[in-house]
Amino acid sequence: MTKYSFRRAAVVALTTASMLALAACGGGSSGNNPTEGGGGEAAGARIGFVAVGPEGGWRDANEKDVRAEFEEAGFELSYAGKAGNDQASQIADFSAFVDQGVDAIVLSATEATGWENSLQAAKDAEIPVILIDRMIDPDTRDLYFAHVSPDNKAVSASLAEWANAEFPDGANYVVLEGIAGLSVVNERNQGWDETINSNFTKLDSQNANWSTEEAKGIFATMLQANNNDIQLVFAQNDEMGIGAAQAARDAGLTPGVDVKILTIDGTSNVLQEMVDGNISVVALYSPFLGEAGVELVKKALAGESAENVIVDGALFDSVEKAQAELDRRQAGDIPF
Ligand code: AHR
Repeated sequence: MTKYSFRRAAVVALTTASMLALAACGGGSSGNNPTEGGGGEAAGARIGFVAVGPEGGWRDANEKDVRAEFEEAGFELSYAGKAGNDQASQIADFSAFVDQGVDAIVLSATEATGWENSLQAAKDAEIPVILIDRMIDPDTRDLYFAHVSPDNKAVSASLAEWANAEFPDGANYVVLEGIAGLSVVNERNQGWDETINSNFTKLDSQNANWSTEEAKGIFATMLQANNNDIQLVFAQNDEMGIGAAQAARDAGLTPGVDVKILTIDGTSNVLQEMVDGNISVVALYSPFLGEAGVELVKKALAGESAENVIVDGALFDSVEKAQAELDRRQAGDIPF
């Protein structure tokens, strides 16, 4: 299964779309994976995966990939993922894995804060913790072995760079954010805010909690409150961008013409929406983090150290690129 490449933690400056698209979509972990070769024995090692659970297309692809990669590597992975983004149940699952004495814990946190006690308990039990996707706040580096994720700031900055070029005289825009307090939401806001030109006007930003339905209702209200005078939407994930496009149409606007909608993730659903003209640009936030996670756990079990791992992104800024990626995924049977 062809995936996207990844490399050691170094800020991956997203430059031109074509370069990134080729780099990221050219195919798979291309051997430049610095975490390969971890000496830890996988066979039979027990992993506790404290997951987010059902949340949307990106999460489905990500958690399936993590589970498949760890099982393919010979680990015994126990999955703990419940819907509802409930941190209390995550903390309970984490604690249960510590009590069971698993060999390592993989954590995708539903909240950035509130993990210190859990992580300290794992450290005291000498159980390494690998963070996948979501970061903790504060970033207490000695409380986890390593973190693997795309670069949220760079991903959102690439969208702001596109907006700067598309609207040289600026525009009115709104932001549809994911669940409040998450590291990825804060980092995406930061990357966008540090990059968007000063001649743009942010009319509003609201949490639409990754949801198409919530984003549709919120954007409809935003359009009414601003007499449809919104030319740009920064939606922090695909589902919210799709909801904004639905609201735009209901308000008599043509997405892609009257209002440009930019999203993060890159699910096949949203790429099809690009081909259909509803979404203008999609920044890939690769869900394929399992392979790097496996290599980090192997390093941890071998008593080695590791840097954080950043997974490359890509920018789909044309219908042609969106269609080419859809074709590539279909040909490669890539589930995303
Ligand atoms: O943490 C990654 C984010 O969580 C994705 O962008 C979003 O779709 C998911 O719900």
